[in-house]
Amino acid sequence: MKITVVGTGYVGLVTGACLAEMGNDVLCLDVDPNKIRILNEGGIPIHEPGLDLVVARNVQAGRLAFTTDIERAVAHGTVQFIAVGTPPDEDGSADLQYVVAAARNIGRLMTDYKVVVDKSTVPVGTADKVRAAIADELAKRDFKVDFAVVSNPEFLKEGAAVDDFMRPDRIIIGADDEQAILLMRALYAPFQRNHEKLLVMDVRSAELTKYAANAMLATRISFMNELALLAEKMGADIEHVRRGIGSDPRIGYDFLYAGCGYGGSCFPKDVKALIKTAATVGQGLKVLTAVEDANDAQKLVLVEKIVQRYGADLTGKRFAVWGLAFKPNTDDMREATSRVVLAELFKRGATVTAYDPVAMDETKRIFGDEPRLSYAANPPDALKGADALVIVTEWKEFRSPDFARIRADLKDPVIFDGRNLYEPSVVVAAGIDYLPIGRAQMTRA
Ligand SMILES: NC(=O)c1ccc[n+]([C@@H]2O[C@H](COP(=O)([O-])OP(=O)(O)OC[C@H]3O[C@@H](n4cnc5c(N)ncnc54)[C@H](O)[C@@H]3O)[C@@H](O)[C@H]2O)c1
Repeated sequence: MKITVVGTGYVGLVTGACLAEMGNDVLCLDVDPNKIRILNEGGIPIHEPGLDLVVARNVQAGRLAFTTDIERAVAHGTVQFIAVGTPPDEDGSADLQYVVAAARNIGRLMTDYKVVVDKSTVPVGTADKVRAAIADELAKRDFKVDFAVVSNPEFLKEGAAVDDFMRPDRIIIGADDEQAILLMRALYAPFQRNHEKLLVMDVRSAELTKYAANAMLATRISFMNELALLAEKMGADIEHVRRGIGSDPRIGYDFLYAGCGYGGSCFPKDVKALIKTAATVGQGLKVLTAVEDANDAQKLVLVEKIVQRYGADLTGKRFAVWGLAFKPNTDDMREATSRVVLAELFKRGATVTAYDPVAMDETKRIFGDEPRLSYAANPPDALKGADALVIVTEWKEFRSPDFARIRADLKDPVIFDGRNLYEPSVVVAAGIDYLPIGRAQMTRA
């Protein structure tokens, strides 16, 4: 099948590469010439495990290409995926300008039947806007041609995106056009050979399903984070509580970890956007409003613990920070907790030596030449001369550190652990104070 993917970011590039892997002829379009240049030179503009191999293989086979040429992109695919960003607008609602611009380009240039597929996360009613934008462009040039608009939200997780796309839990298709549904079934058939995963529904339900999924996951995290705060105050251990409730199959173990707040390009913006969408029809979403408030507060928990130990003025203190990406296996820093932690530490006069396996370039881009921020080549190097260690992202390489070295290198041997990586008794036995989230705060004093 001939496919165009509009927007070659995390979702667009993975979608394009995985569809090419199944034998389709895919052209990926982006307005960012730098991104397309990197891809055309054989590079990958993002860190996503396994993606480089899939991209290289399919480029080599002539099934995957990249362009900034809109005309060529519209002409190429019968199916046109829209996978552009939908960042939060100033008021928190989803900014649809990129989606609408992509739709207008299609309407302006199409000459034959197209199935336009919304893969971006978009509020309920966006398919109508996409349809209207295309129809408007066709009317402007007095051109008549059939087209269909389908909602096909994406559920991949950064860090496991290729695997998620290749072996999806479900494929949501929101459509009312039989021809388009048949096309989508054919396109996704190779991804569900084991059992049927395609759920066909009306467009609005499909659009809402994506927000509902992210909102539910964010709710579980904020719920556990609040319980962790309570556990700490009441002398309980959130890790025991997690296992105790996760054993109930109605609850389950996944996504129940307490920590220093969720970030990323999806949960924060999608929770906000859903609250905004609901408000437009006079529906309050009290639970989600609380989920968001709790998360904003949770991002400050590590700094609160630091202030409790050293006082509000951190002038002269230096912190080793392990982990900058919003979660492991990605270089994505959007809404990452580390950004809040670093900004708060700087505001209070502290300096930071940070280490992250893949997100340091992105951090440099965000913080520029911030003089209070330096980088280490590996985790132990970040410790040298630092007062204390702060862990923000749960990368695997932080899981079994040399505690003796941590104790020797830190001026004040203490770990502020935002991801509960260690067995407290092990850390304390090594002579280090341990301040995790929702568990006993183990200090020598
Ligand atoms: N990142 C994720 O994990 C994830 C998962 C599921 C869904 N989503 C959703 O998918 C959408 C895309 O997310 P992303 O993380 O891939 O974003 P991204 O920012 O990584 O990529 C978007 C790309 O679209 C390009 N673009 C913008 N306007 C364009 C236009 N008119 N024509 C061509 N290209 C254009 C941008 O230059 C950028 O490269 C969002 O709605 C997001 O919510 C993201």
